[in-house]
Amino acid sequence: MEITQALINEIRLLGSDCYLMELLVPGIAEKAKPGQFVELKTVPQGYFDPLLARPISIYKINKAAGTIALIFKVVGRGTTLLAGYQKGEILEVFGPIGNGFVIPEAVNAIALVAGGIGMPPLFSLAESERQRNYTLFYGARNQRDLIELQEWERLNVPVVIATDDGSLGYHGLITEPLLKQINAQKVQFIVACGPKPMLRAVQKIALENNIPGLLSLESHMACGVGACLGCTCNTKAGYKRVCVDGPVFGMDEVNFDD
Ligand SMILES: Cc1cc2nc3c(=O)[nH]c(=O)nc-3n(C[C@H](O)[C@H](O)[C@H](O)COP(=O)(O)OP(=O)(O)OC[C@H]3O[C@@H](n4cnc5c(N)ncnc54)[C@H](O)[C@@H]3O)c2cc1C
Ligand code: FES
Repeated sequence: MEITQALINEIRLLGSDCYLMELLVPGIAEKAKPGQFVELKTVPQGYFDPLLARPISIYKINKAAGTIALIFKVVGRGTTLLAGYQKGEILEVFGPIGNGFVIPEAVNAIALVAGGIGMPPLFSLAESERQRNYTLFYGARNQRDLIELQEWERLNVPVVIATDDGSLGYHGLITEPLLKQINAQKVQFIVACGPKPMLRAVQKIALENNIPGLLSLESHMACGVGACLGCTCNTKAGYKRVCVDGPVFGMDEVNFDD
């Protein structure tokens, strides 16, 4: 992991309060793996309010260009400050952090399940391991929250959409079309990232149908380096830190009920 002053190559609004930010960070890009994240300091060097950096997943990795791209949704003070940065400005970044996705070689038919802003790390996986067969199951509150669909099209990954309000795709929860695909025996492995209720529902379906997989968790973070224990989650093997033991856990590892 390294701390670096990153040049902002690009920042633009994607829609529904989501921004895409591309950073020139050759050291981080060189080491980054799909499923990992970076911590962004939201104020310039020398300023300390807010003190804590904000964790954001890596959406795209371009090792040749030395860049990574991130997508963040504006939800509070830190992400509002991030949205105010301009192309050409400098941002303090540290990473890459976390374990990333590791999928067994033999697995081919993979269901990627994204809830809202959980989509970006799944894209970096599909883009870096293109030899596998993916289907993206993408659930969101409404059509405006479904972002970067053209990028999935570019990868030739079929996308199954579900929206809470029925504005696009299936009207309901994304787990319903997922279950249909599982019943058609078209899923060997599941990788999911999104809000906790969605992850809990995906875990239940996967365990009931004996399908292995991975869950990428979000949790409130403080230090981001494993020292403060502020991000722990309950697992079969006791409490683990989402920042350094995760954010990716085995499908049957996490106890959501505690
Ligand atoms: C490993 C990891 C990867 C992440 N990847 C992304 C990403 O790719 N894109 C993205 O938009 N967001 C991502 N997040 C969430 C992001 O870090 C938070 O939205 C951000 O830190 C909020 O900062 P803020 O100061 O704007 O909001 P705050 O003012 O701190 O909080 C605003 C609201 O957001 C809630 N919130 C804050 N942090 C989290 C969190 N970690 N999980 C759930 N709710 C939270 C608070 O409870 C509050 O309701 C990730 C979080 C983790 C832990
Ligand atoms: S955020 Fe401090 S241990 Fe994970």
